[in-house]
Amino acid sequence: MFGHSISIERLDRLDQMALHWLKGQKDSSVMDLCCGEGGLTKNLAEVCDLVVGVDINPPDFVLPNVHIVAIDIRDLNLPKEIKFSAITWQRAIHYLSYKEAENILKKALDWICPNGKLLISASGINSELGNDYPGKEQPVQNRMDFLSEDMQNKHDIQVKVCLYTMPEFLTLLINTGWEPTEYFVSEFGNLKCVATPKKLSTFMTTITNSAQTKSCHCESRYNLITFKIEISLIVAWFWR
Ligand SMILES: C[S@@+](CC[C@H](N)C(=O)[O-])C[C@H]1O[C@@H](n2cnc3c(N)ncnc32)[C@H](O)[C@@H]1O
Repeated sequence: MFGHSISIERLDRLDQMALHWLKGQKDSSVMDLCCGEGGLTKNLAEVCDLVVGVDINPPDFVLPNVHIVAIDIRDLNLPKEIKFSAITWQRAIHYLSYKEAENILKKALDWICPNGKLLISASGINSELGNDYPGKEQPVQNRMDFLSEDMQNKHDIQVKVCLYTMPEFLTLLINTGWEPTEYFVSEFGNLKCVATPKKLSTFMTTITNSAQTKSCHCESRYNLITFKIEISLIVAWFWR
């Protein structure tokens, strides 16, 4: 119904990036959102001190440093003091509406260490999943539709999905407080991204820049008005 748990069969470049980065971290912890059958979760357990796997259909393996939480991600709330070195969220955000994705991404800022990383992917609207997908006609904020029958059967996805273009996906991340640091499209056409929580300094630079741009606009508008008044006065003086 929710597609195949790909990471049980093979790890992709983004999975490898998560493992590589976490391997170099001390006292590392990771939350694997929508972990599925846990292919990535098990690999994370080899390089991390603590792994929390979250899924509405939880896997049933047991490992000493892995905790599995069976929950609908939309209901996931954590105490403020719990912070992870990384959050992995592979191949699943498209099962949520845009609004739901926004809510969880905003909440996830509280679940991550200041220097932590989010490694996330979404199904691409320009992959074969987008063939005859009616959601293509909708703006991303309202997009939530079934795949074509062929694609539903081929990929075992029988629920509505929100497929993304890369600019839409990056905008979603940026607007919810994340700063994409690396992104790429997989061979299949899925969208892969590494992001960090937007730093206050970046936020302040954005605000300052936009304030400066505004004041520039105001200044040039003011100059134009002054110029127009001066010209009118000169014309009036000649025609007096
Ligand atoms: C295609 S699988 C990906 C599994 C794993 N991340 C991987 O890459 O192998 C999508 C997973 O998302 C889970 N899922 C979908 N909607 C969910 C929700 N609202 N809350 C929790 N899990 C959800 C499904 O149960 C499924 O295991």
